[in-house]
Amino acid sequence: MNSRTDLTSWKNLVEHAKIMKNQHMNDLFTKDSNRFNEFSIKLNPFVLDYSKNIITEETMYLLMQLAKDCDVEQWREKMFDGVSINKTEERAVLHTALRGSVKKNTNIFDENITSNVEQSLSKMKKFSDKVRKGEWLGYSGKRITDVVNIGVGGSNLGPQMVTEALKGYSDNSVNTHYVSNVDGTQIANILKPLNPEQVLFIVSSKTFTTTETITNAQTAMKWLVSSSFDSNAVEKHFIAVSSNKVNAIEFGILEENIFDMWDWVGGRFSLWSAIGLPIAIDLGFEKFTELLAGAHEIDNHFYTAPLKENAPIILALLSVWNCTFLGAQSQAILPYDQNLHMFSAYMQQAEMESNGKSVSWDGEQIDYPTVPTIWGELGINGQHAFYQYLHQSNNVVPADFIGSIESVTPVAGHHETLMANFFAQTQALMKGVNEEQVREDLKAKGRTQEYINKVAPHKVHRGNRPTNSILMKQLSPKTLGSLIALYEHKIFVQGIILKICSFDQWGVELGKGLANKIQLELQNNTVNKNHDSSTQGLIEYYRDERQH
Ligand code: F6P
Repeated sequence: MNSRTDLTSWKNLVEHAKIMKNQHMNDLFTKDSNRFNEFSIKLNPFVLDYSKNIITEETMYLLMQLAKDCDVEQWREKMFDGVSINKTEERAVLHTALRGSVKKNTNIFDENITSNVEQSLSKMKKFSDKVRKGEWLGYSGKRITDVVNIGVGGSNLGPQMVTEALKGYSDNSVNTHYVSNVDGTQIANILKPLNPEQVLFIVSSKTFTTTETITNAQTAMKWLVSSSFDSNAVEKHFIAVSSNKVNAIEFGILEENIFDMWDWVGGRFSLWSAIGLPIAIDLGFEKFTELLAGAHEIDNHFYTAPLKENAPIILALLSVWNCTFLGAQSQAILPYDQNLHMFSAYMQQAEMESNGKSVSWDGEQIDYPTVPTIWGELGINGQHAFYQYLHQSNNVVPADFIGSIESVTPVAGHHETLMANFFAQTQALMKGVNEEQVREDLKAKGRTQEYINKVAPHKVHRGNRPTNSILMKQLSPKTLGSLIALYEHKIFVQGIILKICSFDQWGVELGKGLANKIQLELQNNTVNKNHDSSTQGLIEYYRDERQH
């Protein structure tokens, strides 16, 4: 089988990386004062500045060659055409169709994608309008005041991240809550202040087999039935979003209260589908369609822009450059926008569940570094927590800085302070400060030579730490849609370059299966003697202590 490492462009990049590892961005900026213009892209909703990477024109040329050699454009075509590019599950990957980015009359196994999406959107509109206007009534005839979404992973992170990010756009017609953890503390705390007569539960599960979600949904059902004394209340208070109608109906949800999900939408790419229903209820359907429109614009950009002007492709290539060729092992996502406080967590699933793999799509062990660990936090909070590490540890962590020109909630004086930090941090990470400069500064402050000798080495920042800056005009349903789609396509391209099946997630199965077996042991108070001694010891200890 052809390995990526056999490609001429790959080999050229390996050689080029040896040279670039000895380059400092300070010198690159000194040599070329036009870097910002050369290495940035202005799209309608944002500018992407990637000039603070250890790259030259030659680097970008070689990376583009790699993209061509890996047939990125052909793969992109296949994805939009609905070809089964999710090879291990034999499924198409058409989350783009959910935002209208699909060729007319795309059929998959006789299923007309466009009309399915239209029908689902129309059902979402009717339903969300009804709930928001107070026309959907609970068992006692009262309007719905609170929606509780029960789901986990892709059936939670996307909608919750968007709901949090767009709080400033909600008219608060309905309160929206999210339950994802099977730790009973979460659902208990959420339900405690709520009135069962006015709560609507959305059970979001593509498979309708996820233990955590089903357990939470059962608890919610018991809570409702025990307070209404009426099992018929369920039909007014429970709806589902799932591709497994049989299980949802068996669970007790009326068929007409089930919203479709399809095989060709992966969980972590599903917020654009009925999985986004809590968003539509919270913001109103019109704003939900603005979110879709923002994603659609980036779909168009991704589909039509030439490689070297293509923002998702550039982001993917830079990630491969920084991690696979220059050796970075993690990447930070650092939003300078309070509303994006869940964005890093969302990106963790999006990228790591997609590309955190070590076998190629040919089924062969991959012998080059693949994707980094994705992590992050709001930038300002991070500055007072882990930025020390970003600036001075031996590990280089490339970071994406994300901010807006206008705040959604302007408070006099705040936004300039916030954004000054955004700009300063990317500059400091790039420039650093050398020992000579540190010594001069300390001398200028009148410090003794003894003090300078002691402290100077600790104040050196080597700099040369890559960052991308994404600067939006203002966070809105539309710009958020664009931002998410930008990263979705980045992840897709990254997978193609690394030869990874980005749309399956076999790595979550092993633990799930074992948990199911161990749960039976905990319930039956038995311990399977075939466990390793650590697991057996822990289960026995748990069981013994629990009995006391
Ligand atoms: O964590 C594994 C996973 O399969 C994710 O891919 C998915 O988003 C999540 O579980 C939830 O799955 P479901 O929507 O089927 O409950």
